[in-house]
Amino acid sequence: MFSFSRAWCWVRPAALGCAAATAFLPIRAAPAAAQGPAAGAQRSAAAAQGEALFKQSGCVACHRIGGGRLVGPDLKGVTERRSEAWIIPFVQHSQDVIHSGDSVATALFEQFGRMVMPDHDLSADQVRSILAYVREAGAAAGAASSAAAPPPAPVAKATPEQIRLGQDLFQGRVRFANGGPACNSCHEVTNDAVIGGGVLAKELTTVFSRLGGPGVRAILGSPPFPVMQRAFQDRPLTDEEVTALVGFLREADAEHAFHQPRDYGIRLFSAGVIGAVILLAFYSLLWRGRRKGPVNQAIFERQVTST
Ligand code: HEC
Ligand code: HEC
Repeated sequence: MFSFSRAWCWVRPAALGCAAATAFLPIRAAPAAAQGPAAGAQRSAAAAQGEALFKQSGCVACHRIGGGRLVGPDLKGVTERRSEAWIIPFVQHSQDVIHSGDSVATALFEQFGRMVMPDHDLSADQVRSILAYVREAGAAAGAASSAAAPPPAPVAKATPEQIRLGQDLFQGRVRFANGGPACNSCHEVTNDAVIGGGVLAKELTTVFSRLGGPGVRAILGSPPFPVMQRAFQDRPLTDEEVTALVGFLREADAEHAFHQPRDYGIRLFSAGVIGAVILLAFYSLLWRGRRKGPVNQAIFERQVTST
């Protein structure tokens, strides 16, 4: 509830009672409104820079600010959960923080299915400006409706045609409209209909249950991983392609849940035996006129009869 009043103060800095309403909030009790217009302008400049960085650096593909979990946690209120001294190194090199044995980071890493948040080449000040934006957008998201973080449309179930298209796109049987590389040049999916793929990047069979539809969609819309980003930089996927791929990944995931790993066992063995028998029969037919005795048998027999 109080986030509402905070947002209200933000929207209407002149509103009477704002200072009073926010004075007893546990967090930064004095928003720009209480400090006069100069402080307000300064803060939005940082937030504006932060917003640009949030988009450029790809945070937006994995994090929402208000509106719930995407690939990573919702960042609304993160500055209240964690100190800046914790957040800055985490954004720069999350794995270093995790490997240092930090218990909060380790727990978070486990909670998010051991998903590695990529490193970001950002200065401490740049991260601070992102946090200014996160604070601002978080407050705005507290208001009844927010342009900053519209809730994602639920992912509609793809039609069989779309799933088939997604499968063909994934393995490069159908080319992407903008010419991006086939997904399976880097990724593998375990699915009967798909030939084995690359192992440069993660196996994607269960990515749908790990990241959820909106998460996968967000990643495909603007890939946050440097390698993948470069591969699709000037060759973005179209909406239709994203829908087809998400549909296919969902299907592969669901199918996988019911599937044993591929086991050729007795089928492969008996096919081998039958094949060998057929081949031998064919060869004996082909060579049925072959010479059975030594080369000079005929000469020998002539000699024998002439005596
Ligand atoms: C590929 C997806 C991805 C991208 C891109 C990404 N993050 Fe994350 N982020 C995660 C995941 C997943 C976690 C949860 C911890 C983990 O798994 O390591 C996380 C955790 C965090 C946390 C800790 C949240 C908490 O509740 O304590 C912060 C802060 C954060 N990210 C900020 C950022 C910022 C800022 C950017 C952009 C510069 C960014 N992230 C880009 C996936 C991502
Ligand atoms: C040039 C190589 C490359 C291509 C092509 C590529 N990716 Fe990726 N992808 C990566 C890398 C690298 C990552 C980072 C995570 C990792 O190491 O697996 C990644 C991560 C992902 C993730 C997040 C996986 C997770 O669980 O963290 C998804 C989903 C994904 N890719 C889907 C796709 C799809 C769908 C395509 C085809 C449109 C595609 N990728 C094409 C390299 C690639």
